[in-house]
Amino acid sequence: MVRIPNWPVAGEREIELLREVLDNPQWGGYNPMVTRFEEQFAALQTVKHCISAVNGTVTLELLLTAAGIGAGDEVIVPAISFVATATAVSRVGAIPVFVDIEPYSFNMDPACAERAITAKTKAIIAVHFGGPLADMDRLIPLAEAHKLILIEDAAHSQGAEWRGRGAGSIGWAGSFSFQNGKVLTAGEGGALTTNSDDVAVKLRSLCNIGRKAAENFFFHYALGTNARLTGLQAAVLIGQLERFGRQVDLRVKNATSIISATIAKRGLTWQQVPEQVTANSWYLLLGRVDSSYGRSRNQLHKDLTAQGIPCTPFYPHPLYRNPLYLNGGCRVEPCPNSEACIEDAFWLPHRVLMADEESIQEIATAF
Ligand SMILES: Cc1ncc(COP(=O)(O)O)c(C=O)c1O
Repeated sequence: MVRIPNWPVAGEREIELLREVLDNPQWGGYNPMVTRFEEQFAALQTVKHCISAVNGTVTLELLLTAAGIGAGDEVIVPAISFVATATAVSRVGAIPVFVDIEPYSFNMDPACAERAITAKTKAIIAVHFGGPLADMDRLIPLAEAHKLILIEDAAHSQGAEWRGRGAGSIGWAGSFSFQNGKVLTAGEGGALTTNSDDVAVKLRSLCNIGRKAAENFFFHYALGTNARLTGLQAAVLIGQLERFGRQVDLRVKNATSIISATIAKRGLTWQQVPEQVTANSWYLLLGRVDSSYGRSRNQLHKDLTAQGIPCTPFYPHPLYRNPLYLNGGCRVEPCPNSEACIEDAFWLPHRVLMADEESIQEIATAF
């Protein structure tokens, strides 16, 4: 019998930290626990500034606002992501331009991004899909050559690195999610990261309804919103961070076991993780099957589900075929790889990678 652990998990440490917040008259965004978490998360991502926030959707909207992006501008996004990557662009009044992904990394293809650039393009949002970073060696020079702002949607990539540099520390700024299913979670939550002092000041103000640090509480200088993370969430996140390293080690070990036991299987291809990805959080274990595999993706999904192994048969559509975008409001480049993944890709959530040794063997055999 395959035993899959529950997610999320909490223990006495979270309760102890929550008690500390509850004993303070300030439970909200001004509790000292918030700054404590921000410092720890910035260290994990090797980035100078972390501004915590309510979730990883509003963070993207605020990043685009801080970048001055609005009506008439185009922002290049991958056709495969969670919808928030695109809705953030639409909500600031700009046009999302959907481009294809690479077939096996599941990340934006920089060549497709380059072909989509027009005089209206202002930014690229690179999503680090499933954990491993998009090809930053190619996206950074591309953004620089065209004077575009490179935003990292690192919602999946807590703890992940590219050549030793943390996700969210490489582009202009990064955005993270701490929603319930993420590898670091407080049920809901988010964070913005940047190495730029100026961008950090702007982002902090936008998250705090336009206030400036150390100035009068009722003076507002920018059209921001209240996107503050609470002390209660920060306490939970600090507790989660304390067990994060051990969890990553376990996922690395188990992902390696499953992949090496199945690597020779005809027609089954796991996510390609470039060697520049020096750390991976293993948010998702992603794969694709082709006709030589002997089972369709849907049959594989059915078989895994019957064995009690959680599996998602990928997204039901590329973002541009979401009902929201069917009537326009976007530009769509040819996306054959994205379309193919809808038919033949799948993922296992990270809690599968935290199963016991015997279950991991059974999971490998299930492929
Ligand atoms: C790639 C990506 N970006 C943004 C988000 C939005 O994050 P949140 O759910 O915290 O709003 C998600 C959430 O799953 C995501 O997967």
